[in-house]
Amino acid sequence: MDIIKMENISKLYKSGQIQVEALKSIQLIIKKGEFVSIMGPSGSGKSTLLNIIGCLDHATGGSYELASHVVDKLNDSKMSEVRNAFIGFVFQNFHLLPHLDAIKNVEIPLIYRGENKKVRRELAQEALELVGLKERMHHLPTQLSGGQQQRVAIARALAGNPAIILADEPTGALDSKTGNMIMELFVGLNEKGMTIVQVTHEEEIAEYGSRIVRLVDGEIVSDVNSGGILNE
Ligand SMILES: Nc1ncnc2c1ncn2[C@@H]1O[C@H](COP(=O)(O)OP(=O)(O)O)[C@@H](O)[C@H]1O
Ligand SMILES: [Mg+2]
Repeated sequence: MDIIKMENISKLYKSGQIQVEALKSIQLIIKKGEFVSIMGPSGSGKSTLLNIIGCLDHATGGSYELASHVVDKLNDSKMSEVRNAFIGFVFQNFHLLPHLDAIKNVEIPLIYRGENKKVRRELAQEALELVGLKERMHHLPTQLSGGQQQRVAIARALAGNPAIILADEPTGALDSKTGNMIMELFVGLNEKGMTIVQVTHEEEIAEYGSRIVRLVDGEIVSDVNSGGILNE
């Protein structure tokens, strides 16, 4: 099943007289169960692409379907419904709320989904268990290491049982050993069937994925599955 289907996606940023063509005719199909790493130099359009995939921003041209929903025709409120239903986000700097303990942070997307308190607790506990942090559920972010904070953020992304996890430089704020542990966690989740798309500029991190898509100046210049099979 195609979870992501992009045809001719483009993105033009305009501010005053200046225009930046951040993405140019992107063709990208991602199937359920893939673990894709998007690579490219700074400014090549990685975050722009991830934001469009994640329904945080509209493309300016082309068509985009997420889990068979035509996203490019949706208004902002419908788009956020699709986002809440299908996407779990992981960010470079974790984005945890500092005054909430781990389990309350994990419950946040479940509040948006309208789950009741009991269900929220159960799902959040399960997600923290999956990332190996159940015993830390009442710790505040400041009482956790960087790697543990990122695992809480991953639990939060997982709690709503999304169709896909999107991660923008998930290891960017971590030392390389901790970063590799986060990648091992992603590999384990992917082996259980989770679809993952991550952005990274680190080759070693990208190689945990089963497919590497390379961007240069807003265009896909290579798209290779592990084993060296070219996607065309
Ligand atoms: N909100 C914005 N307004 C104007 N230009 C932007 C905006 N966001 C990104 N850009 C430009 O679009 C290009 C791609 O940016 P980005 O997707 O952030 O690249 P990457 O994540 O690969 O570093 C860059 O030239 C950047 O300056
Ligand atoms: Mg970026």
